[in-house]
Amino acid sequence: MNTRQAKNVLADFHRLELGTFPTPLHQVKNIQKKTGSRFPLYIKRDDLTGLGAGGNKIRNLEYLLGDAVRKKADVVIASGKCQSNLCALAVSACNKANLDCIIIHNDVRPERMEGNQLLNVLSGADMRYIGDMPDHEREAYVEEFCRELENQGRHPYLIKNGASTALGSLGYVQAVVELCDQCGAQELQLDHLFVPGGNGGLAAGAIFGAALTGAPFHVHVVTVEHEKAELEEILSGFLGELQQLTGQLEGFCFEKLYTVHEEYRGEGWGRPTKESVDQIYDLAKEEGIFIEKVYTSKTLYGMVDSVENGTVNGSACYLHSGGFGALFTQF
Ligand SMILES: Cc1ncc(COP(=O)(O)O)c(C=O)c1O
Repeated sequence: MNTRQAKNVLADFHRLELGTFPTPLHQVKNIQKKTGSRFPLYIKRDDLTGLGAGGNKIRNLEYLLGDAVRKKADVVIASGKCQSNLCALAVSACNKANLDCIIIHNDVRPERMEGNQLLNVLSGADMRYIGDMPDHEREAYVEEFCRELENQGRHPYLIKNGASTALGSLGYVQAVVELCDQCGAQELQLDHLFVPGGNGGLAAGAIFGAALTGAPFHVHVVTVEHEKAELEEILSGFLGELQQLTGQLEGFCFEKLYTVHEEYRGEGWGRPTKESVDQIYDLAKEEGIFIEKVYTSKTLYGMVDSVENGTVNGSACYLHSGGFGALFTQF
């Protein structure tokens, strides 16, 4: 299938235009020089999605809020830790779309409003703090909260799992369509694409998009949260849901299109490694681009290390998924 046909598949879904697309695709020549790669290295600037502090979840929110509007929701509920990028972007997206939004944080109210909390305050967000608790308990609380709103006659739309749902990940199917079009327009050959794997929605969308468009590149998923086998299972679940949702690629074997890398994860979510922190300084010093500790620096290290150790031999692109808001609380 070519990108025009893939766009027809996506056109069946109601999408709100919230971000600024396409995001830039450009070379990172100083990083390439540092790695000694013979092949060009690129960056896809999804930190510049054009709303709030930018980042990947704007793409998910375009589809999810499109669904919310179609279902005539009158309030959007998002939840996460205080520094959740998704929560801050949901606030900005709802403000732009004229939707009410309530944010539920499984944290205590911080004494100082910084990073994404500051952005939320500036955006006039309705933030509720339910105390520190595991994510699954927060999700249960939020479900109950939505039922109460319904009993009061409201129509809440719940953003689940940090916007990493099959519908939300259509945003990354679209990102790959966009990337393929950019490669065509810039006449560049891309062999490898490096993306982060958190809850897996971004990666699943990218893999499905690569399958749908017949993209020439291999997708490298750098897990920053789950163990390899666990993330592979999550991805396979998402890919099955995307097949159902779109009615496309039935029986397709996705495994050959991607690799999950566990070796850059360190001790798990939010626990940086020395090498990943080095990337933050390197990218700022070499290219004037900022990344953060949880998602983007580990993913960049995945690409840099794979190029340096020769497991990746060809041109490669790093997908910068944003997270700028959280950076200011990480040092
Ligand atoms: C900046 C950033 N990058 C990457 C991700 C990972 O996306 P996913 O959860 O879809 O794997 C997230 C998720 O919150 C994020 O905030």
